[in-house]
Amino acid sequence: MSPTIWQFSKRAITLKSSAIREILKVTERPDVISFAGGLPSPSSFPVKKIKQAVDDIFNSEDALHALQYGPTEGYQPLRTWIIDTINHREKLQLTVDNVLIVTGSQQALDLLGKALIDHGTKILVETPTYLGGLQTFTQYDPQYIAIDSDRYGLNPDLLTDEDARTASFLYTIPNFQNPTGRRLSLARRQKLAEKAIKNALLLVEDDPYGELDYQGQRLPSLISYAPNNTVYLGSFSKILAPGMRLGYIIGPTALISKLVQLKQAADLHTPSFTQYIAYEVIKDGYLLEHIPNIRKLYQHRCQFMLQQLEKYMPKTVHWNKPEGGMFIWVELPEHINTTELLTLAVNHQVAFVPGESFFANNPKRNYLRLAFVTVSEEQIEQGIKTLASLIK
Ligand SMILES: Cc1ncc(COP(=O)(O)O)c(C=O)c1O
Repeated sequence: MSPTIWQFSKRAITLKSSAIREILKVTERPDVISFAGGLPSPSSFPVKKIKQAVDDIFNSEDALHALQYGPTEGYQPLRTWIIDTINHREKLQLTVDNVLIVTGSQQALDLLGKALIDHGTKILVETPTYLGGLQTFTQYDPQYIAIDSDRYGLNPDLLTDEDARTASFLYTIPNFQNPTGRRLSLARRQKLAEKAIKNALLLVEDDPYGELDYQGQRLPSLISYAPNNTVYLGSFSKILAPGMRLGYIIGPTALISKLVQLKQAADLHTPSFTQYIAYEVIKDGYLLEHIPNIRKLYQHRCQFMLQQLEKYMPKTVHWNKPEGGMFIWVELPEHINTTELLTLAVNHQVAFVPGESFFANNPKRNYLRLAFVTVSEEQIEQGIKTLASLIK
C-alpha cells in the first residue's frame, strides 16, 4: 500500500463516526427490523403539497430567485414567518433580525460550537443527551459537565450556581428529548430559566420535537421565560421533511450576527431552493392541518410499541411512556450491556441504539433507545418479541 500523502488534523483524528450512522449502515439491510434510526416516517412527508409548491415556484418569477445565491441570514419571507409564529406562540416581541436560517438544526449546533467553545471551555449538558450534539461540540474540545435528568427531564436543582456562572452555555432538549422521549416539566422550565437569568447563563434550547406533542398541548419554551438568555433552535425536519435540510436559530442579535459570519464562512447560505419551497408550502397555514396528522400517526405507533413492551418484556425491564416525539428509552438490568446486546440482536434481524453513546461522561451501558415511527405494527410486534427473548 502506498503511504498517504495527507496528515489528518488533530480535530479530524478525534472525531469518531456517530454510532447511529454506523448502525444505520447495517439496518439498511431489508431483513433487519430497525428501531435504531431517528428518521421521521416517510408517510408523513407532504409529497403532493411539495410538488405543487415546486410547480408554483417554477411557474413564476420566483424560480430565478430560488435558483440564485441568497443572503446568509436566509430568505426574508421565511424568516418573517418563523418569527411571527414564535412571537405568537411564546408571547414574545422578537424581530426578523433575531432569526438565522440554517442547513438543519445540526448546523446550528456546529455554528454555536464554533462561536462559543475553545479548548477546555466548560459546557453543561443534560445526561443522557443527543449524540449528534455531543459529536459536534466535541470537535471544539470542551469540558463537559453533565447534569442528571429523570422522568421530568433535566433537574435544575443539580445545577450549581458556580457551574451556571462559569459555563459557556447549557445545552438542553426540553421536548420529547432525544434519546429519552422525556419532556421537561413546567416547574423545571421556570426554575431553569430563573437560574439562567440569575447567573447570566446562556441556554441552548434545541427543539426539533416540540410540535410532536400527541395532545397538542405545548408547554412554554425556555425562550419565553428567559428571552435574553436563550438561543432557540427550530427545525423543519420532523414537521415537513429532513431532506430539505432546513432549521433556524433564534437569539440575541449580537450572537446572531456572529453566527451569520461563521455561516458565511461555512456554506454562504442555506439553499435558496428549499427555503422557497418550504415557504410556499407553509405560508397559508398548511402546517395547522398537517402536524395533527403526524401527531396522530406517531401517537398510534407509540401506543402500539408500549403495548408490545408490556406484553413481552420481563419484569426487570423498565421504560417511559412518552407524551410526544419519536423515542422510548428502555432501562435493562445493570448487568446487561446494550452494545453487546446489539450485536446479538442484529444477528436476529433487530436493531436499536445502545444508550452509552448518549452520555457525555460516565456512560451507562444498560439503556437503549427505541424509535417507533418508521416501522409497521407487524414489525414492532416481531421486533419487540425477539428483543425480549434475547434479554430473557
Ligand atoms: C435533538 C436533535 N437536535 C438536532 C437534530 C438535527 O436535526 P436537523 O435535521 O434539523 O439537522 C436532531 C436530529 O435528529 C435531534 O434529534
